Amino acid sequence: MPPNTWDYGLFKAAFYKKTGLDLDRYKDKQMERRIKQFMQRKNKPDFRLFFDYLSGSPPAMKAFLNYLTINTSEFFRDEKVYKHLQEEIFVELLKKEQGALKIWSAGCSIGAEPYSVAIAMDMLKALDRVKIIASDIDEQALQIAEKGSYFLKQLGKTRKEIIHKYFLVEGEDYHIIPEIKRTVTFKHHNLLTDPPYPDCHMILCRNVFIYFKQETQEFLLGRFSEVLKRGGFLVIGSAEYINNPARFGLTKSYNTIYQKE
Ligand SMILES: C[S@@+](CC[C@H](N)C(=O)[O-])C[C@H]1O[C@@H](n2cnc3c(N)ncnc32)[C@H](O)[C@@H]1O
Repeated sequence: MPPNTWDYGLFKAAFYKKTGLDLDRYKDKQMERRIKQFMQRKNKPDFRLFFDYLSGSPPAMKAFLNYLTINTSEFFRDEKVYKHLQEEIFVELLKKEQGALKIWSAGCSIGAEPYSVAIAMDMLKALDRVKIIASDIDEQALQIAEKGSYFLKQLGKTRKEIIHKYFLVEGEDYHIIPEIKRTVTFKHHNLLTDPPYPDCHMILCRNVFIYFKQETQEFLLGRFSEVLKRGGFLVIGSAEYINNPARFGLTKSYNTIYQKE
């Protein structure tokens, strides 16, 4: 390596010291490739130059932090999973529990996931029986979530009658109705460093794991298991997989849904 230049390892260490975000916990190849694309765009071919550029410009650092988090999401992502949640699991939880259900959408991105859960609960006439906490590290995504306004594309395969009932259409914007919006509390939260929310009946952490290294995934599974109530559920993304769920006190319930023993 030529003097005065940095490799990805040195960049990660300096970046952690500066921002507290530990890139070492994300899959290296994927993350490095993504960062290099950003560097190219900014015409900063070397990690050291790039770090100095970020350090000298708070707006550039903010833009980079927002870029790092991949927040692709849509309403009712994986219809089959939501159908099962609504028809089986929510019904079971509502029957079993007397009080309100606490549901945590961990890595909620633009809010499509927690709002989909709220809509499913409303269709069961149980909106007043649920408290949804939705958290993410990405402030820009959280702003969209809190606003609750979407483009048609972000509604994914949401059925027409659901769109009609739960969104107010204004030009090209689809605003989630206030009754659904007020059920969800959004929080800025880093899954790797902030304490998890306790006493959950369900945690949805979907399409988040996939970016983390194996040991980080295991760390998170341990944490989720700790805060899930007995008989509670963990829902992961359709492309994700838990190797040996029993290690975390979980058993496979359906597809990518696991239950705490
Ligand atoms: C691809 S989106 C998934 C959104 C939604 N769960 C879904 O399945 O449609 C991944 C989200 O994880 C968030 N994320 C990544 N690392 C995180 C961390 N350390 N703490 C909290 N959220 C994180 C990103 O900001 C992004 O919004």
